Amino acid sequence: MTKTAFRKIALLGATGSIGKQTLDLIRSAPEKYQLTSLSAAGNNLEELAKIINEFQPSLVSVNSVESAQKLNELLAIKKSQTQTNQNKTEILHGLDGLNQVATHSEADTTLVAVVGSVGLEPTIEAIKKSKRLIVANKETLVAAGELINQLLIKHQTTLLPADSEHVAIHQCLKGCKASQVRNIYLTASGGPFLNSNINLEDITVKMALNHPTWNMGAKITIDCATLMNKGLEVIEAESLFNLGYDKIQALIHPQSIIHGLVEFIDGNVMAQLGPNDMRLPIQYALDEPEREANLSGKFLDFKTIKKLEFDEPDIKRFPCFRLAYEAGQKGNTYPAVLGAADEIAVELFLQEKIKFNEIPKIIEETLSVHSPSKADSLATIRDADEWARNKAKEIASKQKQVLV
Ligand SMILES: NC(=O)c1ccc[n+]([C@@H]2O[C@H](COP(=O)([O-])OP(=O)(O)OC[C@H]3O[C@@H](n4cnc5c(N)ncnc54)[C@H](OP(=O)(O)O)[C@@H]3O)[C@@H](O)[C@H]2O)c1
Repeated sequence: MTKTAFRKIALLGATGSIGKQTLDLIRSAPEKYQLTSLSAAGNNLEELAKIINEFQPSLVSVNSVESAQKLNELLAIKKSQTQTNQNKTEILHGLDGLNQVATHSEADTTLVAVVGSVGLEPTIEAIKKSKRLIVANKETLVAAGELINQLLIKHQTTLLPADSEHVAIHQCLKGCKASQVRNIYLTASGGPFLNSNINLEDITVKMALNHPTWNMGAKITIDCATLMNKGLEVIEAESLFNLGYDKIQALIHPQSIIHGLVEFIDGNVMAQLGPNDMRLPIQYALDEPEREANLSGKFLDFKTIKKLEFDEPDIKRFPCFRLAYEAGQKGNTYPAVLGAADEIAVELFLQEKIKFNEIPKIIEETLSVHSPSKADSLATIRDADEWARNKAKEIASKQKQVLV
């Protein structure tokens, strides 16, 4: 009989797309999973209060002191109305609060599902406490992959991805040697503009947020539309699997049924297939090394799959993929700068301050004026991140003649 995993989970980014799907899993298997602590930025405090009432975590953190105060008020109202929350929950705020959530003494597993490089410091703090890490937050692995790998060795702990492509590759690589791998392929749906000849500058926020196969947070959805997401995933894959950039390929696969493939030197190929539901890779990462009954209720129905198509990504039309690949190959602080400039450019696009086709231009110009350093400390990576954010804003302001 296999042993059932029991995980005590610290969840960063509980109100997001990955966060809520993780809560779904915890809800459906309380005998397997327990939530010790969680965080959110604080943009939806009503929803956060409901989550706290349902899961009763010991510790919660939000970004600002104002959000923490409002949340305490909401919890007090709910408590008097329903008698549900016993209010054992302590509410903290800021980066210190986020770090305390990530390193909560009762948690054995820290699942990082915040968006952006804000995930970096709590990930590092959790590694230092030898927590078992599950990282959906790709920006952290992009900015600091090498540093994180060194810390994982030093603190004798493990990190698993939650991204579907990387969980796929992780499964296909099990039991084989790096020297036996010829190529790994990360698949991409191609986003909403695959095979569309729309003028890129006419793409609106609404069009770009309309992803054909996945329902995700706004930032990653825009990254999918620009192909930056696949570029970030290439860097993430190098940091996770250490095979060399020349062995990491991206493949357009519009059906999103195959999530990753490994081609071996003898010509055999292993593929991982599954429903396009993020609860599968999240559950895999939570249960590893066991493999347990699917909690999402979703299985592939092969009778309805009529075709599996593949194509090359169009990197001329969508240059973000090339920018990411080049930044990854150059290494040092280039990936941190790429990630930070992308966060700024995507935010400006979502605020309708720049056009879709200006996203790669801002990132490329930021990268072109960067003086790199070795990305071997949190301080260096933080400096590069801050420099890139300011530079990207400056470039956007100059291009648009607007204050951004
Ligand atoms: N969604 C997917 O299917 C998917 C798949 C693979 C990888 N990923 C990666 O997983 C990460 C999360 O993606 P998502 O789609 O779940 O994002 P999302 O829906 O935008 O959720 C982000 C979460 O992080 C919190 N947050 C945002 N900014 C923050 C800040 N500055 N400080 C602290 N917390 C902050 C948000 O809180 P509020 O709700 O209060 O704003 C929310 O809980 C990203 O790195 C993404 O690339 C996502």
